[in-house]
Amino acid sequence: MSATSIASLVRTALPGPESLKLMARERRVLAHGAYGDWDERAFVAKGAQGSLIEDVDGNHFIDFGAGWGTNNVGNCHPEIVEVVNATMSQHGVSCWTSSAQTAQRIAAAEKLLSVCPKRTDRVVFLTTGTEADEAALRIMRRASGRPIVLTFYGQYFGLSYSGQASGSLTAEMRSDVMPLVTGYVYAPYPNPYRSPLNSSTGGGPGAATLEYIEEVILTHEVPANQVAGVIVEPVIGEGGIVVPPDDFLPGLRKLCDKYGWYLCIDEVLSGFGRCGKMWAYENWDVEPDILVVGKGISGGSMPLAAVVARGDITEKADAYVASTYSGHPAACAAAIKTIEILYRDDLFAAANTLGALALERLTALKARYPAIGDVRGKGLWVAVEFVKDRKTRERDIAFASRVNSECLKRGLYAVQDANAHLRIQPPLNIPRPLFEQGLDILADAIRVASGG
Ligand SMILES: Cc1ncc(COP(=O)(O)O)c(C=O)c1O
Repeated sequence: MSATSIASLVRTALPGPESLKLMARERRVLAHGAYGDWDERAFVAKGAQGSLIEDVDGNHFIDFGAGWGTNNVGNCHPEIVEVVNATMSQHGVSCWTSSAQTAQRIAAAEKLLSVCPKRTDRVVFLTTGTEADEAALRIMRRASGRPIVLTFYGQYFGLSYSGQASGSLTAEMRSDVMPLVTGYVYAPYPNPYRSPLNSSTGGGPGAATLEYIEEVILTHEVPANQVAGVIVEPVIGEGGIVVPPDDFLPGLRKLCDKYGWYLCIDEVLSGFGRCGKMWAYENWDVEPDILVVGKGISGGSMPLAAVVARGDITEKADAYVASTYSGHPAACAAAIKTIEILYRDDLFAAANTLGALALERLTALKARYPAIGDVRGKGLWVAVEFVKDRKTRERDIAFASRVNSECLKRGLYAVQDANAHLRIQPPLNIPRPLFEQGLDILADAIRVASGG
């Protein structure tokens, strides 16, 4: 499955016969909802290599999902598979208690710090992004002795209680958590396409959100000295690749400095080259005090995440935040190799080149199809949002689902979930002909869904 472009990707109706058999078994044993809606399944995957996924019926799909943002260096990168196998045959989760440590964990922390903000010098390894966000929230509160964290509507930090409390992707998703939530204040994320706020000083949505924090939250809701810090996605991922205006993150940094708050940037989905630089925040003049990383850290191999922070913060927090599998030696070895590959192969340049191509192609399509409300992105992370009406900007989830289904029939796997946008986030080293083939499929799918 290493071809650079493929003549015939999908050979059966979807789902194919073998997928259907497995899906019937799935319905008997897996919990509905936990992995999305059964009725929307198009295939059951058999494996994935590079930028292609193969299903159990022999169909192939160009991978515009990259394992939900974990495989930035491609599925089953041979060098990563090799270090994981070698480390697994060396040891498992050998050491956890105070009396022992593993060499891999130390080396991975050194490697990670070598590419992190200068002001950070401590690492805590965790297993998932959710856990790492939980840890960061505890560290911020314990170190500052302050109870409140400022967050933004539309962000996503995992499905745990504090993930759902600090993240507010959809009201429905967190309806069971909301009655229990304390310890957060919320401002609208500055979404250039859908801002509910106006700046009173003539600025754009970034300025409007920053003004809201001071004029509404700090004036009417909570005094600044009760706020431990801010948790922010530098580019919102799950909420539809929302790229903030240029004044937002630097303005937020200034507010943090003014009030003595910690700035915690979550790069779980936006990091490891996805936005054309190692970290998305590097696209602006800003540096966090705490960085949360995950997903792409181990090149799509072993579960790993981390909190990277200033040592004086972790020192003050002195928090137990790890868990049994956190910093698994094989995952740590994979992280070292992943960082090496990203820099050695300059996947940042690749991300910027292919991302610019996607933006150009989709912007041209926007001029043709009124259903496309917005096209946006950073690096190789591009979203196309569908609307019922360009004036009202009412989201059109049904249209997005039609486009997604036409893509799948033609052999393109993009990320939709229950939203009105499709996300383009392939491995950063996807061969250009395959990427262009994927964009052609997407264009064709939009044409068909538009009745063309
Ligand atoms: C920004 C962000 N933070 C945290 C998480 C949670 O990560 P995980 O699913 O590994 O727990 C996600 C998952 O999509 C995410 O996008």
